[in-house]
Amino acid sequence: MESSAAVHERGLGKTLRRDRWWVPPLSVALGLSLCGAYATWAVLQGNYYFAEQFHYLSPFYSPCITASCPEDIRLFGIGWWPLSPAILMMGVILGFRGTCYYYRKAYYRAYFMDPPACAVGEPWGEGYKGETVFPMIIQNLHRYFLYASVVVWLFLTYDTVMAFFPHGQFGMGLGSLVLLVNLFLLSGYLFGCHSLRHIIGGNVDCYSCAFGGKARHGAWKRASWFNKRHMGFAWFSLVFVCLTDLYIRLVSMGTITDFRLF
Ligand code: FES
Repeated sequence: MESSAAVHERGLGKTLRRDRWWVPPLSVALGLSLCGAYATWAVLQGNYYFAEQFHYLSPFYSPCITASCPEDIRLFGIGWWPLSPAILMMGVILGFRGTCYYYRKAYYRAYFMDPPACAVGEPWGEGYKGETVFPMIIQNLHRYFLYASVVVWLFLTYDTVMAFFPHGQFGMGLGSLVLLVNLFLLSGYLFGCHSLRHIIGGNVDCYSCAFGGKARHGAWKRASWFNKRHMGFAWFSLVFVCLTDLYIRLVSMGTITDFRLF
């Protein structure tokens, strides 16, 4: 049997594998490129998209923190950010997803081919330092992007509740359900984060000795359920947040009409 070192020496894409090992990295490259292109286009399209009559705010623009945002959705009524709020939100989301342990594996393989797949030759040879030197050492900021994302998640939760109570009264349309599904998928992705799981219980050596050990163990077990499905939540939440933005964008522009259930 040939050693992995020998396969490596033979160069990029060289392998003894006979399966279609190139399908996953190619799919990831296409998926991330499409979602990235849509998000970039969307961010450059204006200051916010808000369907006022139904209280639907696109998740790309939440919280709305520019002076041009309507007063009732402006954070604390103050508009201090001079640009589109999407630029700030995208910075947080891109930082969070870009440093995510799952996405790192996915785009290292898809874009950098480092390596393209297990037991497949890669382009980079000697001198590989992993994430111990600049610029890849920045990946260690994941925990801080997690904290910022929790704040954004709180605002998205508030927006979703408000989509069921426009103008203080219960009401529900297709957009309310779209926002609810979006929140569920984003929550599944967030709760399965490796860093979050570590913080809430993974760093405890002895639950029966630790303060609040029983509660932390329960939280850790729930986070572990989401963590096992992290890749699925990562993809579904990424695609669906783009679809949610598109739906609310079209409703707020009057291009389509929201289907009202109540
Ligand atoms: S590891 Fe994927 S979001 Fe934290």
